[in-house]
Amino acid sequence: MLPYAEYPFHSISMTQDEILKNILENLAKENIEIIIETGTFNGLGSTTFVSNAFEKCNTLKTFYTLEVNPNSHADAVENLKKFPKVVCLNGASLNLREALNFVENDEAINHHERYPDIFIDTLINPVAFYANELKGLLGEESPPNPKGGGNPKEEYMTNKKISVSQPQRPFSLRRFLRKLFGIKTKEDLKKEQAEKERLEKIEKEQLEKEKKQRLKPTLIIENLLEELINKYENANLFVILDSAGGVGYMEFQKVMSLLGKKSFYLMLDDTHHLKHFRSLRDIQQNPNFNILGVSKQNGWCVAKHL
Ligand SMILES: C[S@@+](CC[C@H](N)C(=O)[O-])C[C@H]1O[C@@H](n2cnc3c(N)ncnc32)[C@H](O)[C@@H]1O
Repeated sequence: MLPYAEYPFHSISMTQDEILKNILENLAKENIEIIIETGTFNGLGSTTFVSNAFEKCNTLKTFYTLEVNPNSHADAVENLKKFPKVVCLNGASLNLREALNFVENDEAINHHERYPDIFIDTLINPVAFYANELKGLLGEESPPNPKGGGNPKEEYMTNKKISVSQPQRPFSLRRFLRKLFGIKTKEDLKKEQAEKERLEKIEKEQLEKEKKQRLKPTLIIENLLEELINKYENANLFVILDSAGGVGYMEFQKVMSLLGKKSFYLMLDDTHHLKHFRSLRDIQQNPNFNILGVSKQNGWCVAKHL
């Protein structure tokens, strides 16, 4: 496999694709009642894109979107406030133990060299990378080392601060008298402002740090994809799969095991990636699927089952 960052179109999201926008606007006329999405991230990507396309869809009751990372979930809640039908759930789409097991034993991850045309997020220990993502730790800084050590960047900054010494200034009577009578020069005011800004910055960083620590996942709610599908199996469903690259195929297999005999719509993101290259292959080989659109370049597929 190839690292995804090397793909020339990796930064182009499916949300910039006019053909997909058209397909979704047409789908919004198909009386869809419930949307279930895995992988919200901050809500500004696929969730916003699909919500805009479904703006005039009166049959849509609820758009559930699942995000395991608590910080991304909190951002998404804020970013998606303007869509009243969107319900953001903080939890995992799959059973965590089964998902970790899938990642550890997946032939495509363990032998990625057998798939030269497929992308993967990283070639450096992909099992650990996807295990972290599944635990809701994607993009989180590694925790500080309690034995000392800690974050090398912070250490560097601290050392730097210590080594900076103030140069001695020659005695000035004017400065002395000003100080004595509390008269502030322009330079004093500038310094005071800089100090105030420095303290505000430290306080803000501290608050951010505390917020992140508060939101570190402790107990993850699991298996939400199955729970929601079971609850709405008789509704007109649209399922969107876009969570961790390491378990995209597992999510697809889960959907097929639950809805294999039902009618539903499906959208996959990253079909040129480990996430869904096998899901797309299965859809293309399954006569019960009617592909409504597929993009090789932007790596998405929309299909109707039965
Ligand atoms: C590729 S991003 C989603 C991108 C988003 N759909 C967009 O268009 O901007 C994948 C997201 O899925 C989340 N995630 C990973 N595994 C998950 C799981 N099992 N259940 C729910 N969310 C998961 C990650 O934390 C990450 O935010």
